[in-house]
Amino acid sequence: MAKYRTRLGRRTFLSGLAATATSCAIANQPRQLNDNVQALRDEKRDFAVVGDAPLRDRAAAKGLLYGAATGSQILSSDSAFAESFAKECAILVPENELKWSVLRPSPDRFDFSQADALLSFARSHKMLFRGHTLVWGQDFGDFGPKWLRETVNSKNAEQVLINHVKTVVEHYAGQMHSWDVVNEVFDPRHGRADGLANTSWLKFLGINYIDLAFRTAAQADPKALRVLNFTEYDLGENEGQREARKVGVLKLLERLKAQGTPVQALGIQGHLEGITTHFNPRRLKAFLRDVASLGLKIMITELDVIDQKLPLDVDVRDRIVAGVYEDYLSLVLEEPAVTTVITWGLSDRYTWHSRFNSRDDKAPVRPLPLDEGRKRKLAWNAIARAFDRSPNRKL
Ligand code: XIL
Repeated sequence: MAKYRTRLGRRTFLSGLAATATSCAIANQPRQLNDNVQALRDEKRDFAVVGDAPLRDRAAAKGLLYGAATGSQILSSDSAFAESFAKECAILVPENELKWSVLRPSPDRFDFSQADALLSFARSHKMLFRGHTLVWGQDFGDFGPKWLRETVNSKNAEQVLINHVKTVVEHYAGQMHSWDVVNEVFDPRHGRADGLANTSWLKFLGINYIDLAFRTAAQADPKALRVLNFTEYDLGENEGQREARKVGVLKLLERLKAQGTPVQALGIQGHLEGITTHFNPRRLKAFLRDVASLGLKIMITELDVIDQKLPLDVDVRDRIVAGVYEDYLSLVLEEPAVTTVITWGLSDRYTWHSRFNSRDDKAPVRPLPLDEGRKRKLAWNAIARAFDRSPNRKL
């Protein structure tokens, strides 16, 4: 990973962009920052929660699904964390174990051992299992296996993609809640008129790679929900750019639906920035409605709140992070098509932001519901409150 960061830098890694982009946002929009910090010093905001039921039960009471991403080494080496994970989560997502970097040591080998270990943990704790991710442009970067970028070209790309999707989806057929079939498909900063991310898959196969991936997945396991996972972090972009991004995604979804691509849900990553809540409530709501009106379900797939630029004081920081969680989830859960909320990790002890969005003052980051010692934070309360107040899907 260190190599990956050095060579490509944060700039190329979509969610890592949060850091760079946010600095620009702050420089350009000091008013937003001041307003926000001001509001968050308002200690009257009440994050009280009734009872101590875990998040999975609070979500289930409303017909929602809550879970988190984690890793096989974490669960096998930290039994206390594993216990908290099983208590709070109803669905488990392998953070890296289903990526090409782990699954595909060589062109002709599949190594399912780490992902299988996570599946068996999930099953033994009566949790669902979710697949992340089959086709992702980043697999061609330093993060993916070297052989992929060295051997795949426009002649063999189709066969490589089909072989991967078919083999992996068949391996888990009948046991997978949902698959992120294509991840981070959209990136307007790459300069294409249609806003698509200029990945190697796109270069080799054209836009058809998306359809190919979805059709292959549908054939290999008709029952797993097929998700297009969308980078929605709303950082550093102005309102116009953010809207352009959403319009682009909608256009893509419309096109996929019109041509019969078997996409069933939109995944919204939700790596939110704590320094200022970038979402425009009215527009986000309208976007969710538009997605739902295409007959698609919506899942929040990688939620966390980046505290990189927030004040050092832990109480202030936790309050800000919790506020973002609650504001975002209260809004999003009003949309009936939203079925699932997944946080990208559960405890601050294990978060990708320690590496990708660390703080200048070197203080440990605090983006998740539980603290390093697995204690529930205000962020946990915020999520619990949003579930408790959510409209009931079961009615
Ligand atoms: C991240 C993992 O959390 C890290 O452990 C890994 O080093 C890099 O990938 N968007 C995605 C996820 O779709 O796959 C990324 O996961 C985070 C951003």
